[in-house]
Amino acid sequence: MKIITVLGARPQFIKAALLSRELRRNHREILVHTGQHYDRELSNVFFEELNIPQPDYNLGIGSATQGKQTGQMMIEIEKLLIIERPDLVLVYGDTNSTLAAALAAVKLHVPVAHVEAGPRMFDKSVPEEINRIITDHISTLLFAPTQISLENLRKEGLTRGVYLTGDVMLDNFYYFSGVAEKHSRILEQIGLQKGKYILVTVHRARNTDIEGNLKNICAALSIIAKREKLVFPVHPRTEKFLKQYGFWADLEREANITLIKPVGYLDMLVLTKGAKKILTDSGGLQKEAYFAGVPCITLDITSGWPETVADGWNLVVGECGDSSSLDIEKIVRAAFSFAPKGERQMVFGDGRAVEKICAAIDGFKC
Ligand code: UD1
Ligand code: UDP
Repeated sequence: MKIITVLGARPQFIKAALLSRELRRNHREILVHTGQHYDRELSNVFFEELNIPQPDYNLGIGSATQGKQTGQMMIEIEKLLIIERPDLVLVYGDTNSTLAAALAAVKLHVPVAHVEAGPRMFDKSVPEEINRIITDHISTLLFAPTQISLENLRKEGLTRGVYLTGDVMLDNFYYFSGVAEKHSRILEQIGLQKGKYILVTVHRARNTDIEGNLKNICAALSIIAKREKLVFPVHPRTEKFLKQYGFWADLEREANITLIKPVGYLDMLVLTKGAKKILTDSGGLQKEAYFAGVPCITLDITSGWPETVADGWNLVVGECGDSSSLDIEKIVRAAFSFAPKGERQMVFGDGRAVEKICAAIDGFKC
């Protein structure tokens, strides 16, 4: 089969790394990069260190408002689909690149395969939630990472073409952990010791664009930094708002807070596995914390991965409210005292999601 895979943002490059390799054994894959992420540390670095084939097309769309970015992607993807006439379009996750590719494909009657189908936050104010729901409903093959994702799909009437595969991120986590331990020098470079720091990431629109939330996160980090060392690889979106609101300098002044540029996946694996706790609003990092057995504190009002919360390894500290949904005290208390209860159930499969997805695609009749 001729398969067009559309990628655009950091977590999608990572998710595609192993699946793309395996897919190419039996199929011709054409890789399209929408250009949603374009900075070296959000894009090129992953292609290089994870040996992902260079994209056949880069659409160079870049940053814009939700509608403009998604619309421009659709226009360009449609042109490509008309030229290339693939048998299947493969998309990952829940970004605007995912939605644009799925919509462009389905309107040309090209079947869509969706990796990471079914997670729901039950909050339509989150742009990614809209992207996921629509993509799932127009996909022909749906690869659910967990039982809960599968149930969500079933409740929405989606049962045909649905496969419970486990999560490709777990495959990556197992596969690249050894390479990361061998090659990454990140802990030496930033002067931190395994087990003696908290890892922080923030990039969700709700936390960056709403000043009150970003302010409370920064205030909490400053208090936590009186007792703990923190490392914070800062997404460019977050850097922009931290500087715009005037919080960047306050964080930089804290001796125990190390602000760094976003890092590659191998460095991130080492930072994740070596952390004593993780404070994040990233969906991917919530899962990786769970894979690594590191307690996670989610800086949001809900988690896209309730499995990790139910298992006791992820604590959601945000609360629905009119203004700021994140309370300083609550974040600080969680950072100092949250301790998981019990064993992890390992709900993301057995690390063989890539194999299961490829088997389903191999058996798919266009
Ligand atoms: C996007 C996804 C989000 C995913 C995240 C992964 C959507 C709606 N959101 O969020 O689901 O979790 O990627 O990191 O698709 N920017 C740069 N350089 C870049 C890319 C972005 O400076 O290479 C800055 C720009 O100011 C841009 C902002 O980041 O406006 C937001 O970028 P965008 O891709 O729209 O959303 P993310 O927040 O990255
Ligand atoms: N990640 C990375 N470098 C960083 C921050 C995150 O490689 O500086 C990885 C992280 O380990 C995970 C993925 O990026 O695999 C998560 O992406 P992100 O948080 O951008 O998006 P989300 O998962 O929330 O959609």
